[in-house]
Amino acid sequence: MSAERIDGRAFAEGLRGRVAAAVPAFAQATGRNPGLAVVLVGEDPASQIYVRSKHKATLEAGMESFEHRLPDTTSQDELVALVEQLNADERVDGILVQLPLPKGVDDKAVIATIEPAKDVDGFHVVNAGKLAVGEDALVSCTPLGCLMLLKDRLSSLSGLEAVVVGRSNIVGKPMAQLLLRENCTVTIAHSRTSDLAAVVGRGDIVVAAVGQPELIKGAWLKPGAVVIDVGMNRLEGEGGKTRLLGDVEFATASEVASAITPVPGGVGPMTIAVLLRNTLVAASARAGLRPPEGL
Ligand code: GUN
Repeated sequence: MSAERIDGRAFAEGLRGRVAAAVPAFAQATGRNPGLAVVLVGEDPASQIYVRSKHKATLEAGMESFEHRLPDTTSQDELVALVEQLNADERVDGILVQLPLPKGVDDKAVIATIEPAKDVDGFHVVNAGKLAVGEDALVSCTPLGCLMLLKDRLSSLSGLEAVVVGRSNIVGKPMAQLLLRENCTVTIAHSRTSDLAAVVGRGDIVVAAVGQPELIKGAWLKPGAVVIDVGMNRLEGEGGKTRLLGDVEFATASEVASAITPVPGGVGPMTIAVLLRNTLVAASARAGLRPPEGL
């Protein structure tokens, strides 16, 4: 058996197109375009690439992009002051502070400063808490993108066994909450789980977000499982080239799964598309408009 490849790039392109198509109605109703502010502190190369892509995608969707690049010597107080300024700026609907932050800056304190209604990353405890108790919340982009891919592939998630490997606040925990909301039976496994292979083998759905290259083997999977690989492990390849590897051993997994996301081209492109979706959702809520449909 050879699994269907879930084309996250194509899905993300479609979502970005639907967001862009909904922006003119917002502009007509409010007299302005939605605005996203992205804050980058320091010179982390991967973060610089992400921030550049976010800026480009924001403009392509017809939104305002406010970029703030700060040196890695920026103090926590200075960063908090910038976030407060963005909270008060009426043109800004979404605020994203790119992680990781330099050593010495407490990311929890910075995230706590973001106005929850503008927290398009869904990292603020108010949004995490709303998700946990089943209220409308801004939800972390990567897990929400994973859920969209799963719902596109499966007619119903209800009653399925879902195994989430990884317990981060950014992916694993919100992913588990989202799957629970879809009536899955959810297990959260992680790097200390004993007999991870047996736990993974229960999953009709497996979401891998542990950050260990090719940890999860095809032989562990339940035949026919749908596998979502969030891993983005950069490894030095031959000739100094970096190779991007997922958390799942793709070659063996695609012999057992019914569908699987490739790395790259699976979950990765979804994150920015969902960020644009969250920005439009946040902008609409702030303007007292109904949430845009079909996003
Ligand atoms: N760094 C890596 N992924 C993310 C993300 O989704 N949001 C933020 N703010 N920083 C990140």
